[in-house]
Amino acid sequence: METVIFKVKNNSLEKEDLDNICEIIKSSGVVAFPTETVYGLGANALDVEAVKGIFKAKGRPSDNPLIVHISNLEMLDELVEEVGDAAKKLMDAFWPGPITFILKKKKEVSETVTAGLQTIAIRFPSDKIARDIIEYCGKPIAAPSANLSGKPSPTNGEHVIRDLTGRVEAIVVGEDAVIGLESTVVDLTGKYPMILRPGGISKEELEKVIGQVQIDKALNSEYSEDNKPKSPGMKYTHYAPKAEARLATGTREEQVIKIKELLNDLRSSGHSVGVLTVDENVEKYACDNIISLGSINNMDEIASNLFKALREFDDTSVEYILCESFENVGIGLAIMNRLKKACGYRKF
Ligand code: TXA
Ligand code: MG
Repeated sequence: METVIFKVKNNSLEKEDLDNICEIIKSSGVVAFPTETVYGLGANALDVEAVKGIFKAKGRPSDNPLIVHISNLEMLDELVEEVGDAAKKLMDAFWPGPITFILKKKKEVSETVTAGLQTIAIRFPSDKIARDIIEYCGKPIAAPSANLSGKPSPTNGEHVIRDLTGRVEAIVVGEDAVIGLESTVVDLTGKYPMILRPGGISKEELEKVIGQVQIDKALNSEYSEDNKPKSPGMKYTHYAPKAEARLATGTREEQVIKIKELLNDLRSSGHSVGVLTVDENVEKYACDNIISLGSINNMDEIASNLFKALREFDDTSVEYILCESFENVGIGLAIMNRLKKACGYRKF
């Protein structure tokens, strides 16, 4: 399949491009586009054939439901049964933005979108281009992250072009994703709101608006039959770079010592090793393949660089990646969730 590339200029799409994009969406095609979290791979959520096209293009397992993106609150009416008080409060506080709410779906919405579940994930993105596309097409857009299944989510157009050229009808190339990690997924169908995937909005920020919020306990450790996450997608090994990544534990000083030791051991037995660190520690390692995520004092910067860094290691010949870890507070919880998965839960 030929993939058409649309380039965003001055943070907007020309009318002719928007017309062409909507034509593709209306004829059941699949279009990748930027959002503030990561790039998404979109199709008309109300068109089953189009939605099947998303699963096919990504190689995504059919038991992993999609997030449906909207560009105004009226669109909610055709998707969800009801919006309760807690949902209203949270939508007021955080939409448009990097947060997805799980609500009871209307029966008219196909189970192909929700992977057989009676609930549906909805997000109202803040990114201008994402909103312009959804609004112009006038349809809710189902969109997972625009990576091949299993790879780190794409945070720039180049990542999407590499993963999906020839597999999708079009790719809209805009700015790099500002947040760089996927949205927080919050289930509002239980007694208390529960975070099923930590992301752009932190637990602390949610609790300021709604009081106590739970976190799906299964997220702390590796998937097993006794430890099933509530969000189907969280069971898959994700974000895995080609090299074997390992996560250092302990205080930052202890981590540096451990990484130096393991770096020496691995290198003296002939292996090629990379280190994923922060600006403050770059000088501390004697290593050719070193990537800094940014300053330890700027966790937003660290978050926005994580997926790009994991992909950069794939362009090198390293066999191991030794990663520093972060505190589980604020956006740190989401960073650690992705890093643990990227490391296949290997710690040292
Ligand atoms: O930031 C984001 O959320 C990006 C951008 C494109 O919006 N999208 C994204 O989609 O990350 P995806 O498909 O890569 O991840 C969606 C996650 C999966 O873990 C999926 O299992 C979960 O949301 N999910 C979707 N519907 C669900 C539902 N009804 N109940 C529980 N989890 C659900
Ligand atoms: Mg994804």
